[in-house]
Amino acid sequence: MCGIVGYLGEKNTKQILLDGLKELEYRGYDSAGIAVLQNGEFSNYKAIGKLINLEKKTKDFVTEGFAVGIGHTRWATHGKPTELNAHPHLGESSYIVHNGIIENYAQLKKELISDGVTFLSQTDTEVIVHQFEKNLKTQKNAFKAFEKTINELDGAYAILLTTKSEEDTIFFAKHGSPMLVGINSEYEKFFASSDTPLIEHATQVNYFEDGDYGFVNSKEISIFDKDAKKKKAIFTNLSQNKLSAQKDGFRFFMEKEIYEQSDVIADTLMGRLSDDEVIFDEFDKSLFDDGINEIKLCACGTSYHSALSASYLFERYSKIRTSVEIASEFRYREPIMCKDTLFIVISQSGETADTLETLKMAKKAGLKTLVICNVDNSSMVRLADATILTRAGIEKGVASTKAFATQVTIFWMLSLYIAKLRDSLKNEEIIRQISLLREVPASVKVTDEMHEKLKRLSKRYLHGHGFFFIGRDIFFPLALEGALKLKEISYLHAEGYPSGEMKHGPIALADPELFTIALLPEHLHYEKSKSNVEELSARDSTICAISSQEFDKADDFIRISKCKDYMLEFFEMMVVVQLLSLEISVRLGNDVDMPRNLAKSVTVE
Ligand code: M6R
Repeated sequence: MCGIVGYLGEKNTKQILLDGLKELEYRGYDSAGIAVLQNGEFSNYKAIGKLINLEKKTKDFVTEGFAVGIGHTRWATHGKPTELNAHPHLGESSYIVHNGIIENYAQLKKELISDGVTFLSQTDTEVIVHQFEKNLKTQKNAFKAFEKTINELDGAYAILLTTKSEEDTIFFAKHGSPMLVGINSEYEKFFASSDTPLIEHATQVNYFEDGDYGFVNSKEISIFDKDAKKKKAIFTNLSQNKLSAQKDGFRFFMEKEIYEQSDVIADTLMGRLSDDEVIFDEFDKSLFDDGINEIKLCACGTSYHSALSASYLFERYSKIRTSVEIASEFRYREPIMCKDTLFIVISQSGETADTLETLKMAKKAGLKTLVICNVDNSSMVRLADATILTRAGIEKGVASTKAFATQVTIFWMLSLYIAKLRDSLKNEEIIRQISLLREVPASVKVTDEMHEKLKRLSKRYLHGHGFFFIGRDIFFPLALEGALKLKEISYLHAEGYPSGEMKHGPIALADPELFTIALLPEHLHYEKSKSNVEELSARDSTICAISSQEFDKADDFIRISKCKDYMLEFFEMMVVVQLLSLEISVRLGNDVDMPRNLAKSVTVE
């Protein structure tokens, strides 16, 4: 995802910005840029692709003496990864970098265009700098113009702005996207979207809160809160350990990524929901008309599980025939491919060899194709007719977590999008579901109480001859995903099974050494799922039930909150099974982030 750096001081500004961007590389990006204001003149460089391209472009650019500089790595959301769309964006005499999404950018852009402003990029960000310069004409100074601009924005942002009208100043604002400012004894000021770029430069940092905005110059840091009240910066010492900074204080990347799910799902939803419809700017609705009668989903591993979840949503809400295939099987089984099928591949990396091959097969057979992917510019994104980016940010843990969460979120949205096109759901129901979707970020927030409970509970599940994760309906793919997470990082045997299928064979394994993790949603087939669990309990299997409903036949019980809908229960339970696997793995002393025998991106068949 996008990264921001900023610097104000007398050292080598160019190098500080480039080094800072390098520290943010691990988050993933597709273009980068810097703008430096020195002696009243701006220098601006941008390049697509890796930072090395930007380094080459800035080879002969030298900064000496006092300067202010801002830099950015961009992960495309509005507009393709091109140099014009890369940040920093220029107005007439100001530059801006921005993380997040401005939801009302289209309206602001329309007004600015009618005022005669010419836009160079397709980004939402560019409106901010033009809006600032428009306000500069009516406000008494640059700070007032910046303050007015911030008040006119809807959406999420972390922003740095430099302007010739106040040459020694950086303006900043934060709402929904992270940002901090760092200081040292040499009166330098550093900005970044996470700790790492500041290590070895700043000794103390202030983490901005949502609603904070203000300005810094060499003499002062002025921060205002969302009510425009001046506030004091709260500086804390900055740990100088880079790896731990990248993990934001978490023990493992996987743990950090589980905690990040609330934020990344908010990013996934951002700009894609109105009150009564789902909006995907990235493709034309004709992708789903023109004689499309079936959807085929193809993927591997965790992405396959999200595809399975999609099949329940597509058939239930969009009323369209849907089938799901494991990519490595599909490619060799001489499948029949009909042109009335929309072929959707799902991949976190966009590089998985088996999935990529199925996409090539579908293209060759003349099918329309769509990829749900986390990495822009990946092989699958380049090949498919259309792309929906999941916006999960780079995922470092080999065991996928937030990628799955964002994939399912996209599928839920897509099912409503298709439902609207096909008129298969009443408008009131679409409105209800959209309001539920907005609740997902809150429902996946990890509470201390839940995490502590799972840490305690994990010690009882370190042995035995196997685990069954069981669920019905869309909770069956979640059961599969829970089992996959556990086996990947604990190396214990685990299977996901449909609850109603246990009696057709696997129940023979039931004894106290068989652990059953039972997903019991209140809002979907509760009574039926409960009886399946009771059958196992009667045969002395050790049961750990996850539900909002008290269940006295379980040995252990993990209570989720009372939700309005089964999909919110789905997301809460997802977090529980992820954390349970993590804590079991930790107790077993395994390498959580890099489990044995596994690779993050499987580019061989
Ligand atoms: O990048 P992809 O989503 O295509 O990867 C597919 C699988 O290799 C991946 O989901 C794998 O199963 C993960 N290790 C699951 O945690």
